Amino acid sequence: MSARFFKVAAVYFVIAIILGIVMGIRHDFSLASVHAHLNLLGWVSMALFGTIYHLYPAAGSSKLATIHFWLHNLGVPVMQGGITLVMLTENGVFTAFAIIGSLVVVLGGILFAVNVFKHVKAEFLVLKKFA
Ligand code: HEM
Ligand code: HEM
Repeated sequence: MSARFFKVAAVYFVIAIILGIVMGIRHDFSLASVHAHLNLLGWVSMALFGTIYHLYPAAGSSKLATIHFWLHNLGVPVMQGGITLVMLTENGVFTAFAIIGSLVVVLGGILFAVNVFKHVKAEFLVLKKFA
């Protein structure tokens, strides 16, 4: 799962910094929170998931990692898309997307934590280094 996470992270990074530049040029910071979370949930978190899954292949190749990947990658666009539409249209209906997307991300995050506790063991990393 690590290569997939790295590739999607790179795409979010590009989208998020373009949004940052557009906000700066337009002096309109209403989407600052979307910019922040595309960077932090999209780029930073996914780069970290990819790194952890690469360092600990038992975690990265588990079923939990696959489910986590899909929950995170469905949740983030639904959540951030919902917030963007709320900000742009002022239509509260889109709040539902933000809430549902967030809950999906949280569920993925819980599975990630379970996976880390199950499969991340200090000796795996040490053995790999000296192999
Ligand atoms: C070319 C790259 C980037 C540009 C042009 C940019 C631009 C901006 C702008 C214009 C703001 C709004 C500032 C304000 O509200 O006064 C902002 C806020 C923010 N940016 Fe970026 N940014 C960039 C990269 C990043 C990266 C890489 C991260 C995180 C890894 C990040 C995280 C944040 C956060 C957390 C905020 C605060 C949002 C808030 O206060 O609501 N930005 N950025
Ligand atoms: C499901 C996951 C998450 C939810 C539901 C969430 C929700 C929120 C909310 C409601 C705010 C306040 C926004 C505002 O005042 O406009 C916020 C702000 C912030 N969050 Fe998150 N967050 C999540 C994940 C994260 C993660 C993973 C990070 C960092 C790695 C992060 C970093 C921040 C930062 C830096 C701010 C302040 C900047 C801002 O106002 O946008 N968040 N978050």
